[in-house]
Amino acid sequence: MKFNTTQRGFAKIDTNALLIAAFEGETESGLFNHLNTASGGNVKAQCELEKFTAAVGQTMLTYPFGAIAAKRAIFFGVGKRSELTTAKLRKALVAAFKLARAQKINEVTVAETTLSGTKVSAAQFAELAATVSLLVDYEVNHNKTVGVLGYTARPELEEVRYLSEHKVGTKVRKSLAKGRIVAQAVNYARDLSNLPAGELTPTAFVEEAKRVAAESGGLITCKVLSPQELAVIGAQGIINVGKGSDEPYYLIELVYTPPTGATQEVLGYVGKAVCFDSGGYDLKPADGMRHMKRDMSGGGAVLSAMQAIANLQLPISVKAYMAPVENMVSGRAFKPGDRIRMLSGITVEVDNTDAEGRLTLGDMITYARNAGVTRIVDVATLTGAIRQVNSDVAAGLFSNNDAFARQLKAAGERVGEQYEHLTMWPELRDFNKAEMSDLKNTGGPAGAGATTAAWFVRQFAGEELPWIHLDIASVAFRDREFGVDPKGSTGFSVQTLVELAAEFAKKR
Ligand code: BES
Ligand code: MN
Ligand code: ZN
Repeated sequence: MKFNTTQRGFAKIDTNALLIAAFEGETESGLFNHLNTASGGNVKAQCELEKFTAAVGQTMLTYPFGAIAAKRAIFFGVGKRSELTTAKLRKALVAAFKLARAQKINEVTVAETTLSGTKVSAAQFAELAATVSLLVDYEVNHNKTVGVLGYTARPELEEVRYLSEHKVGTKVRKSLAKGRIVAQAVNYARDLSNLPAGELTPTAFVEEAKRVAAESGGLITCKVLSPQELAVIGAQGIINVGKGSDEPYYLIELVYTPPTGATQEVLGYVGKAVCFDSGGYDLKPADGMRHMKRDMSGGGAVLSAMQAIANLQLPISVKAYMAPVENMVSGRAFKPGDRIRMLSGITVEVDNTDAEGRLTLGDMITYARNAGVTRIVDVATLTGAIRQVNSDVAAGLFSNNDAFARQLKAAGERVGEQYEHLTMWPELRDFNKAEMSDLKNTGGPAGAGATTAAWFVRQFAGEELPWIHLDIASVAFRDREFGVDPKGSTGFSVQTLVELAAEFAKKR
């Protein structure tokens, strides 16, 4: 998709669709009034006919002709000027771009809006418009064949123009570029997660990480530990999960150093990258296994966030860890009842081979700590149980540090990703105790599977280092469209990880 900026009178812009923000109760002024007059009162008449009041999320498609060069105009309601927020603007832009997409419009022009009297800046408006246009227009990297069963490819939105009557400043230009970089990263994460397990094998995942590093212009270095190297250091958590597969398994370390040099603060991003989770000998039923190619969504989100962080050249050091593995059944697979000495030295009894994610996370977190990160955020499709808490609306957030948790939750709110900070009840910690090892990899009868899983992971993060665990099993993929997300993989957490890094970059 192309992004361009144009400085021109609004009436003169020749475009397939002019996207215009409309404020509630302001139909007598500004661009709205301008278009109404130019159309001989048609716009207003249509508003009355369609009961368009410019409420948030409302849209109206018009064909203004006459003095207006645009072929169509899409008005999108953003509510009352005094009550505008970026969240409302996002929702409004989603509605506008979804309408443009439904109309199969291949080129649109977003008209700059006068935002005086609101809490939203022109830069924020531009960034959101760029992000939303790309996120809404995402289409799965499918391999449907044109013509079969009547299938035709949907025309892509090829060009988005940003129109201002004034000179478009560097701040707005930068914001458009930022919006685009972040959205492309989200779409990359969606692609990775949508890929079949037969294509995105652990080896292919490694190739992706190498490519992200190679394309970073030297800002990201990539180190990959082979099964043999993992054996040497004793990363038995990763090894036990991965060894049942014919595919090899790995631990990837990506190190991002800003162009301005390394920083004292080093964020550690850890992503679960189980490329297929059959459950192992505690085999999943067919329904539960169907989407387990997506069990690498956390790792995909971390990889994609690293790509965006490098493209934005954020002045903060970030190290990322992903252990791509397949959890399979074979004569070499780990078994229920097996005993594992994790990389940290903690011993774990395998209560259930389907609780594999936490075994890989434990080793990755130990490795990250040894590498000197100063904070850790892990992202994982860790438990089916988290869906019982929030359906597909929000991810679960667990932490050993309330201040850090608040920072991440707020970053999520700014980018439109919802997290619920869940209490790690101390009374649930000991459900991970085992008979013959320090820990077992299930929470037994506690009945709060997401929380006991978080407690398990916390044993490896410790209490000193600020740590957050994001259980995204509820939101990494959905069976319905949801806001800016399509059905299927969502790329959830990419925007939050980038926003959080940006915030730590500011505080330096
Ligand atoms: N990958 C699954 C969790 C999951 C379930 C993700 C549904 C996305 C959608 C994870 O490895 C798993 O199987 N967890 C088990 C743990 C249990 C055996 C203690 C679960 O949640 O049932
Ligand atoms: Mn599992
Ligand atoms: Zn899993």
